[in-house]
Amino acid sequence: MSPHRNRRTRVVRVDRDHPSPAAMADAGAVIRAGGLVAFPTETVYGLGANALDEEAVHSVFSAKERDAGDPLIVHISSVDSLVLVTDSASPTALLLFQRFAPGPLTVVLPRAAPVAPPVSAGLPTVAVRIPSHPVARALIEAAGVPIAAPSANRFMRTSATTAAHVLEDLDGRIDLVLDGGPADAGIESTVVSIEGKTVFILRAGAITAEEIATALPAGVTIGSPVTGSVAGSPGMLERHYAPRKSLTLVRAPSSLGRAALARELSTAIAAGQTPGVLVLDEDAATLSGLAPLIRGHLGPESDLGRVASRLYTAMRDLDRSQATELFARSVPPGGLGAAINDRLTRAAARIIGPE
Ligand code: TXA
Ligand code: MG
Repeated sequence: MSPHRNRRTRVVRVDRDHPSPAAMADAGAVIRAGGLVAFPTETVYGLGANALDEEAVHSVFSAKERDAGDPLIVHISSVDSLVLVTDSASPTALLLFQRFAPGPLTVVLPRAAPVAPPVSAGLPTVAVRIPSHPVARALIEAAGVPIAAPSANRFMRTSATTAAHVLEDLDGRIDLVLDGGPADAGIESTVVSIEGKTVFILRAGAITAEEIATALPAGVTIGSPVTGSVAGSPGMLERHYAPRKSLTLVRAPSSLGRAALARELSTAIAAGQTPGVLVLDEDAATLSGLAPLIRGHLGPESDLGRVASRLYTAMRDLDRSQATELFARSVPPGGLGAAINDRLTRAAARIIGPE
């Protein structure tokens, strides 16, 4: 048995808003001893290790079976702790943290020497985030060190938004899961890098491009969002955040997409399949006559916050169901729609247009 497969994984329930000091002291001690602790954040569950301990960081990669070329995000509890992880944060970086921290924004900064190099996958930079979730904050405080934490899922799978999802992927590979209930947003943080007067969105996420734009001073602009694998955003693999079953994504404006989705499902059913579909409330009536069909409910596209919070749970539920293949359609692209469509696109094995 390889070393990352023979850990006994303890699960400790903690109150989301008032985690018990004893439980957090225990979890902090596990981190300081080089162990791995999964914990809830306001985005998704993270898999934490001491960011200053090279061995501990290596074990994050092996537990997840994550590619060593995909760098991790370091979590700190306040702007004051930035000095622990970076030697120079630009005025724009500080302004973004002042506006959005604590919260789901990750900023790529020059890496300070104490941060274990594998955190950054060999890059001279480090991605930093100051989470707002009380359990995440209490864990960082109790550990007394910056915490490197990718999403707590196996590599290439959808992020975990509950303790049960974490166990599905990582039971027996990590030391502790702090079960603080479902993560809040359900979709990961927005990752940005700053070059001169341009802010690049490397990964769309829980903070929207529109929100970032309103926070920027005159003269600083947002560069076009980067998709696919490009220099400067390693780990942004095309096929990522994926269910095990093949997902077909219909990418089209809502009414055309709804009709195309219904056609795709009918074709699959006629071919003897039992399709699984991510259903927006607005599509429920159109899809109501189709059978056999397994539905994963996302809520209304008029409330993308709810869709984001349901997305990974619905995908995992369909993955475990009797469905033979999966289908979804894109949502309107504004606001959180950018992050939702990005994850659907990365999850998809096949993408089709409206015609
Ligand atoms: O919401 C989140 O961000 C969650 C919670 C746990 O904080 N974390 C998360 O981590 O989603 P992860 O490892 O699944 O995704 C982090 C992404 C990497 O895939 C990579 O693209 C980008 O952040 N990243 C990390 N370090 C970077 C760096 N130095 N330069 C550019 N991109 C980086
Ligand atoms: Mg991830």
